[in-house]
Amino acid sequence: MTGASRGIGAALAAELAARGARVVLVARSVEPLEKLAAELGGEAFAADLADASAIEPLVRRIEAGGPIDVLVNNAGVDLTGDLVALPTDEIARLLAVNLCAPMLLCRAVIPGMRSRGAGHIVNVSSLAGTNAVPGLAPYSASKAGLSHFTAGLRAELKGTPITTTLAQVGTVESTMVDSLRAHEPTRRALARLERLHLAVDLDLRVVVDALADAIERDKRHLRLPKRDALFPLIVEVPRRVTELLLTGVR
Ligand SMILES: NC(=O)c1ccc[n+]([C@@H]2O[C@H](COP(=O)([O-])OP(=O)(O)OC[C@H]3O[C@@H](n4cnc5c(N)ncnc54)[C@H](OP(=O)(O)O)[C@@H]3O)[C@@H](O)[C@H]2O)c1
Repeated sequence: MTGASRGIGAALAAELAARGARVVLVARSVEPLEKLAAELGGEAFAADLADASAIEPLVRRIEAGGPIDVLVNNAGVDLTGDLVALPTDEIARLLAVNLCAPMLLCRAVIPGMRSRGAGHIVNVSSLAGTNAVPGLAPYSASKAGLSHFTAGLRAELKGTPITTTLAQVGTVESTMVDSLRAHEPTRRALARLERLHLAVDLDLRVVVDALADAIERDKRHLRLPKRDALFPLIVEVPRRVTELLLTGVR
């Protein structure tokens, strides 16, 4: 579980541990990570996922203690503001953590999952990957990329014992959302969508339970809130049609 030091990742790790999983927690913040790992009877591995070179060694260190049966790519950063005001290094870091790290983590765990004949990958994306609002262009692009990457990976893994869940989640009551709303054009856009009943802040508990259920039931998609499922469903249409057209092609 990446991004397990707080927020959705910490709560999901606790829920999965309560359901019997042995959890391995990854994030940069050593103290909260080790505290939670001790509480859950799991393990903590501090790592900066923006550093691409750290990823293969991290997976090797984790797998030295046991196989990764389920990879949850949850770590993510937000970056809100007018594009022209955003620093180069923060845009690069956002893409490294939100998009590149999940790809490299998948690449690192898939060989082991293949050889064991089982594995599940969960990518925590966002409705921002389908709904573009001002102030979030790089963040939305990273989540659109993660969603489309997951579709491509699923096509690649078809016929193997490895399955994927793409979680496309709307705003959750969190520090991340408070940070998005600190930028006035983003706050106004989200407020408009809320007035039109096209967005609503999700309760963390609801999101965590739904994610844990999706993992247990091997669901390929989780779209929350349900009232907003139409937009990601529409984006899924060409992917699904391509999948059908490629049936039987290896
Ligand atoms: N909150 C929402 O409304 C919302 C909506 C849709 C999707 N999401 C997605 O859900 C995921 C979790 O969001 P959240 O609200 O729980 O965010 P959060 O509270 O800000 O937590 C983000 C997690 O990612 C970790 N992280 C950040 N940069 C990292 C790095 N370079 N290396 C390793 N770990 C790193 C953080 O740990 P450290 O800082 O300790 O490294 C933290 O554990 C994200 O992918 C987010 O995009 C959130």
